[in-house]
Amino acid sequence: MAQTTYPQRYTITAALPYANGPVHIGHLAGVYIPADIYARYLRSRGRDVKFVCGSDEHGVPITIRAKKEGITPQQAVDKYHELIKSSFADFNISFDIYSRTSSKTHAEIASGFFRKLYDEGKFIEQTTKQYFDEKAQQFLADRYIVGTCPKCGNENAYGDQCESCGTSLNATDLINPKSTLSGEPPVLRETKHWYLPLDQYEPWLREWIVEGHKGDWKTNVYGQCKSWIDQGLQPRAVTRDLNWGVPVPVEGAEGKVLYVWFDAPIGYISATKDLTPDWETYWKDKNSKLVHFIGKDNIVFHCIIFPAMLKAHGDYVLPDNVPANEFLNLEGNKISTSRNWAVWLHEYMQDLPGKADVLRYVLCANAPETKDNDFTWKDYQARNNNELLAIFGNFINRAVVLTHKYYNGAVPQRGALAPYDEEVLAQLADFPEKIALSLELYRFKEALGELMNLARLGNKYLADTEPWKLIKTDAARVETIMNIALQISASLAILSEPFLPETANKLANMLQYTAGKWNEAGSPDLLPAGHTIGEAALLFEKIEDVVMEAQVQKLLDTKKENELANAVAAPAKEDITFEDFSKIDIRVGTILEAEKVAKTKKLLKLKVDTGLDQRTIVSGIAEHFNPEEIIGQQVSVLVNLAPREIKGIVSQGMLLMAENADGSLAFMQPSKPVVNGGGVS
Ligand code: MF3
Ligand code: ZN
Repeated sequence: MAQTTYPQRYTITAALPYANGPVHIGHLAGVYIPADIYARYLRSRGRDVKFVCGSDEHGVPITIRAKKEGITPQQAVDKYHELIKSSFADFNISFDIYSRTSSKTHAEIASGFFRKLYDEGKFIEQTTKQYFDEKAQQFLADRYIVGTCPKCGNENAYGDQCESCGTSLNATDLINPKSTLSGEPPVLRETKHWYLPLDQYEPWLREWIVEGHKGDWKTNVYGQCKSWIDQGLQPRAVTRDLNWGVPVPVEGAEGKVLYVWFDAPIGYISATKDLTPDWETYWKDKNSKLVHFIGKDNIVFHCIIFPAMLKAHGDYVLPDNVPANEFLNLEGNKISTSRNWAVWLHEYMQDLPGKADVLRYVLCANAPETKDNDFTWKDYQARNNNELLAIFGNFINRAVVLTHKYYNGAVPQRGALAPYDEEVLAQLADFPEKIALSLELYRFKEALGELMNLARLGNKYLADTEPWKLIKTDAARVETIMNIALQISASLAILSEPFLPETANKLANMLQYTAGKWNEAGSPDLLPAGHTIGEAALLFEKIEDVVMEAQVQKLLDTKKENELANAVAAPAKEDITFEDFSKIDIRVGTILEAEKVAKTKKLLKLKVDTGLDQRTIVSGIAEHFNPEEIIGQQVSVLVNLAPREIKGIVSQGMLLMAENADGSLAFMQPSKPVVNGGGVS
């Protein structure tokens, strides 16, 4: 059989999240879980891996956030860097380093990178008219300007990119541009910037991606790249008029910084430098395989712009693959930070402590690998209860409990094999390569499915052979069965580690087994006969409906808050004359009695003291108020509305109510007590 040769070393990057807010399930599902699975898998195979990440701390996303919170950009990145870093630690994302782009190393590397290209004449220097906000006295870079995308018509495209269609834009491409600082249309003002002439790299990019990576890059990634290249590439400004970022290391560039998308990917290199003195090998040796894990909105930067930068620089390797994912939605709606429509990782950890692996599992099983996918709490619960608990957990529990029951926890001998045993062992032996094959191709969902198939195999083996019955008639055979079940368990401890690191650890402890490396998995001899395993412990627990209902309620509350915040007032009615208005007689009254009108849902029968009289009013407010609660309250009453019979009761007038955006009602009450009969005008 031909021996597959593997790269000598791997440089794995995961997109540097902006330090402008906490991270949520979309981040995990799209980028960090697949990247972590890949890195852990490679380490288990004994490959040389550096897995690098860090916070993206420059650019307009940061300055906008700081302004919103009334703090400095430095304070903002300090706050969110720590929060993001600890969320990743909570979910056991095994970065070799989690760095930040405000570091000294990064300023040096990014500056040096720019300077080399500058010195070698790789940039075009150009003075052009750029958008400027006269009110704010500031140039409008990137997210400071929004407008309609010329490609897809999205009305909220940013000055550098449309997040709807992924296209990278220049601010001057936008239709109807508007400053996000003042809301005003901007004016044009001259300014000098440096441009990377992407058009010059077009033939090379075509050859490298369109010809070179057809078939090995994911179709969603390849397709986007090809379409951009086919449409023709434009020079891109790589500097900005902004006071937050890496200063442009050139004379006459005061007040200018590197464009955040120029400096951030260089952050992968500076993080590696902070990690190891041997960093250059990981970036410059052609036997290093560079893989970028990102979300789909980052494709243009990692497949076109950063590679063009690397190519222009000349010393660095190019990405071997960019397995970008699509987006994860939440309960049918797009995840949105501004609308607080997200499951935030730090909140998840508080609400569902000890369940990092459950979320890792669900997000991988339901990963948006080839299309956008939806996260629902119902699916989360079902996958926990019906898959993790019912299959994986149940199998391990049976194997461990029966071993204690029959053999005091000592692994029994494997005797003569029945054909079924042989078949199961043969299947077991195939799993490591089967799972590996999917992982090597970045098919994480498929790989996880195979892992669960191994747990299923174990579960089925015990269910079919029924050792709990056989123990009375054929004790020797039960020894063989339990031995095999325990070997499967030990393989699961190895193979589940990239996906479910906490579970793998618990399982290894339970088996009193120092889990071996990937290549040992599948063996029938991981646990020798006589080896004593530990006590049974639960790997997963059932998640009850109430727990899920609380999470769903949290989202419903958010939805309500958003509805109230975004409520649009009904359009104004036609004008009336003062004479029309003066016909209306509104008085302050006090509710004396209130009771529900029988056989109706909405009606209350009230007795109201209007100062003129005590009268009966039927009001459609029963769904909003309890009768007892409103007795004694003052209200505004329209007293000269012609009497009307409602459900056999004559109603003499009407209470004035204010309606909220969510349909809830409030009384129109005087702000201090007023004598009954007091006129409202
Ligand atoms: N901060 C960017 C985002 O959240 C990703 C930057 S990735 C890097 O979309 F390559 F620039 F580092
Ligand atoms: Zn667009």
